[in-house]
Amino acid sequence: MATFDTLIKGGTVANSYATFKADVGIRDGKIAALGIDIGEANQTIDAKGKYVLPGGIETHCHIAQESSTGTMTSDDYYSGSVSAAFGGNTTIVPFAAQHRGQSINDVISLYDSRAAPHSVIDYSYHLIVTDPTDAAINEQLPAAFERGITSFKVFMTYDKMIVSDEQFLDILVMARDNGGLTMVHAENNAMIKWMVKRLIDRGYDAPKYHAVSHPRTSEVEAVRRGIALASFVEAPLLFVHISTDAGARAVADARMDGCMIFGETCPQYMFLTAEDLDRQGAEGAKYCCSPPLRDTQTQIDMWRHLNAGSLQLYSSDHAPYRFDASGKLSAGNNPPFNRIANGLPGIELRAPLLFSEGVNKGRISLETFVSLTASNAAKLFGMDDHKGTIAPGFDADIAIWDPQKSTQVTAAGMHDNMDYTPFEGWELTGWPVTVMNRGRVIVDSEELKATAGDGQFIARKPFDPTGFIPPRAPEIEESTNFGAKLF
Ligand code: URP
Ligand code: ZN
Ligand code: ZN
Repeated sequence: MATFDTLIKGGTVANSYATFKADVGIRDGKIAALGIDIGEANQTIDAKGKYVLPGGIETHCHIAQESSTGTMTSDDYYSGSVSAAFGGNTTIVPFAAQHRGQSINDVISLYDSRAAPHSVIDYSYHLIVTDPTDAAINEQLPAAFERGITSFKVFMTYDKMIVSDEQFLDILVMARDNGGLTMVHAENNAMIKWMVKRLIDRGYDAPKYHAVSHPRTSEVEAVRRGIALASFVEAPLLFVHISTDAGARAVADARMDGCMIFGETCPQYMFLTAEDLDRQGAEGAKYCCSPPLRDTQTQIDMWRHLNAGSLQLYSSDHAPYRFDASGKLSAGNNPPFNRIANGLPGIELRAPLLFSEGVNKGRISLETFVSLTASNAAKLFGMDDHKGTIAPGFDADIAIWDPQKSTQVTAAGMHDNMDYTPFEGWELTGWPVTVMNRGRVIVDSEELKATAGDGQFIARKPFDPTGFIPPRAPEIEESTNFGAKLF
């Protein structure tokens, strides 16, 4: 009879494609066997009445990162990864942000020093490219892809980060040809600046005007333009934090048209609204993020888009800035909306919110939950050969969920380095009670078992277009797709 290091016994395993009863045998950090009566182990975990799910893969979070205006996130790789682990995640892929004048190589070295000694779970980075010099595009980014950092984000807004459409085309072609996946923050810069100036000039500076200054149409215009640019050169493109029905529909339509276009939304667009920005005093600052919170109709729309697969990713966009002078109130106790650091904390609650409001309320299946919290990210970001699925040969990255456990959310109960949570007081049902990363128990019974530096850097595969390659009639290829063929 086989002997394992650990046996998870009596649970219900769910992958993105099936749910079944099975014990899970783990050896040397890998899943060694799945089935009933598969053997004995040095350590047995009783999972009766629980779900045994792939550990969450959180691929949109800002950790130990300066914003474009220089404000440092409150979480470093220790607190950020601990908070992620308590929320059922076993891998994080935060951003390593280039600021203008920095080389990509220096950015990677800097983030290696920020992450490696501190992360308690596995990690990788997406780069943020704000200074697309020839050397950055032609040499440094391809070299970053070679060492397994195969995705990066560009911005269509923010004066200090924006890339022009021409630069965007150069970037898309380089990524297409070198196995990279381009991600984009899509909002129309001119519309936002025009609105901000008019609102501020007229004295409309309270936090609630942040939402007014980022109209839906600014997202929709930028999404449509991004799709046009990417499909012109036949490059894959992933739109992060989609916050509008029309933006999500544009993504879905582009895929129906055969383009390699993907989309992500975030809990804040599904569980909060712009009314949260209109709280007493400066409280609304806690809810300033970009794109901004929308309305209850958008919440319904986002559930539909996730369920229909028009958006493939559901990520926290954890961007933690405390409600004090180090973060949200750096411009004073009553800051105008355009001087409030953008972003909300939420890495720990991403999966529990989706489980409680989605799985437990019958809005999504358990398999869809697994797709949205782990498997789709593994596929899009080049880790699906060893992460995101419970199967022999895969890393033993596992979250054991108690579907009945009820939790009242409080800021004090979170493990990030924040002084508030936008979800204060929410009652959630379902929580990951035991979490394992490569076979090590990292969280159990509300206790951290991992130590700083336990997480490993994950070198990721190039973006794999298999399954996404658009079918094209030869004559269409000849006549309309000239741009992609020339360069
Ligand atoms: O408001 C947000 N989302 N801040 C984080 C930075 C970004 O654009 O994702
Ligand atoms: Zn963004
Ligand atoms: Zn973000």
